[in-house]
Amino acid sequence: MKRLTADELRGKYVNFFVSKGHTQIQGKSLIPENDPTALFTMAGMHPLVPYLSGQEHPAGKRLTDFQKCIRTSDIDSVGDPSHLTFFEMLGNWSLGDYFKEETIKMSFEFLTSPDWLNIPLDKLGVTVFEGEDGIPKDDESASIWKSLGVTRISYLPREDNWWGPAGTTGPCGPDTEMFYYMGDAPCSADCKPGCPCNKWLEIWNDVFMQYNKNASGEYEPLSRKCVDTGMGIERTVTVLNGKSSVYDTEIFADILGAIEKASGVSYKSGAAGETDKSIRIIADHVRSSTFILGDPKAVSPSNVGAGYVLRRLIRRAVRHGRKLSANEMRLSPIAEVVINQFKEAYPELKENSGFILKELDKEEDKFMETLQKGEHEFEKLLPNLLKDPRKIMSGRLAFKLYDTYGFPIELTEELAAESGMTVNREEFEDAFKKHQELSRSQSGQAFKGGLGDQGEEAVKYHTATHLLHKALKIVLGDHVAQKGSNITAERLRFDFANDAPMTSAQIKAVEDIVNDQIRKNLPVSMETMGIDEAKASGAIALFGEKYEAQVKVYTIGASSSDFFTKEVCGGPHVERTGVLGSFKIQKEQSSSAGVRRIRAVLEP
Ligand code: SER
Repeated sequence: MKRLTADELRGKYVNFFVSKGHTQIQGKSLIPENDPTALFTMAGMHPLVPYLSGQEHPAGKRLTDFQKCIRTSDIDSVGDPSHLTFFEMLGNWSLGDYFKEETIKMSFEFLTSPDWLNIPLDKLGVTVFEGEDGIPKDDESASIWKSLGVTRISYLPREDNWWGPAGTTGPCGPDTEMFYYMGDAPCSADCKPGCPCNKWLEIWNDVFMQYNKNASGEYEPLSRKCVDTGMGIERTVTVLNGKSSVYDTEIFADILGAIEKASGVSYKSGAAGETDKSIRIIADHVRSSTFILGDPKAVSPSNVGAGYVLRRLIRRAVRHGRKLSANEMRLSPIAEVVINQFKEAYPELKENSGFILKELDKEEDKFMETLQKGEHEFEKLLPNLLKDPRKIMSGRLAFKLYDTYGFPIELTEELAAESGMTVNREEFEDAFKKHQELSRSQSGQAFKGGLGDQGEEAVKYHTATHLLHKALKIVLGDHVAQKGSNITAERLRFDFANDAPMTSAQIKAVEDIVNDQIRKNLPVSMETMGIDEAKASGAIALFGEKYEAQVKVYTIGASSSDFFTKEVCGGPHVERTGVLGSFKIQKEQSSSAGVRRIRAVLEP
């Protein structure tokens, strides 16, 4: 087996697929551009959804890349041997090109060939879809694996062998997953993925995208069958190096070292229970936070959306730091190690290092203040609490501390314990759940019918966003650069760099320009070209965003020399601006330092 580092694995994977006729494309931002149904890019295929759904990709039909991802659904499992909130995914895609046979053969070759990963056959097991809801059992994949010599094959239900959609709607299909046996040798002749010995670790997933899940939850066949595959870098490096945990690989060595140094506590490779768990949580959360803050579309910690997730990650890391040691450990020196380690593969980390470290320090300070305030409030409550003969603090009160002061339940419990009391945790959880359901249904409302659904209204808002971007540059100056965009079927939201609030005259001027372009009923056209050519032709491209060599450029205007605006963009857009109706800015406000936010609607 090849003992590869993450850097080497990235290189090998991409080279292998380039040698099989794939074009390497750039991984994208961690903040999805046109999918308001998700806060983060959560799979390698996520930025490719429009292409898996039928659009042409400028780089062709066979693509490969590596992509940074955040998946917070697993946050509670972080600290065990294999779960992470931040991970990197390698992928190869067929957009209507090869399907099952070629996909599986390439996966097999990359995994087992002595020229590539050289994984022994008896350590390899796979799963295939067993069929469900009228979608047939995937005997075809199973027989391809068998023909290659793979014998450890499990048929599993939809819960295990189905992937997607990434948001609420979109491309999805049955998959076949590849597993590595983590013990010395499979426990019996029948041992295969899913075996109760529990030693099979998934490292790669080939998804056969055949369906589109629509807004009513139905699966309609895709017009063009595609393949989406994803190999987890951290897990694969783990097995290739004979380790039993992602945290014991070279990927985490320096990060764990930095935490040991900051805390004065040593990591014992999973042997030391809670201490190791805290160290792993800090390592994972600092890595995620560093990548979120280092992204070209970075968000800052806040109380909503992606900013809230970031805040939680940072605060949870701080909390585990406090749990670990009395040392006043700071997170930014650990983040520096992350930046250094990943700066070759992700140059944006180095470019944004100042911002990353500053934001981490700021959020840590704020949290410390919160903790002090919370402790103070708790002390005020204490005399009353102590009157309870059962020495139980009500969960509602603990929730109030959490809700009003952001004071974490674990700390309330700690303080209560110091005074010989316990907290009614069940009552706290109840209050917490109610609160969560409420905010989830509110955000569900806001995300309804977004571009993730490619709804007609959302497409109009997307074109309106291009008009707005250009109008802002005309009225405020060329420094106006897009910092974020979020579209639903009801409105657009656009964040852009500008130091001062807009005056009402400026707002009016922008509205007038956009409405003029709508009235002219300008055609919208798309061309594919090289990124340098695109920039030279006057197309707006986002600074710091990585683009493929070949990009799509959307032009709004009569021709490619006489146009209102041109922008590098994945689409989709309306055909003519006349369908947009009347454009109105509802709100212009601050979003974060140096960034303004516009909310605008289209009225019939
Ligand atoms: N989308 C699939 C996954 O994330 C394969 O890339 O596992």
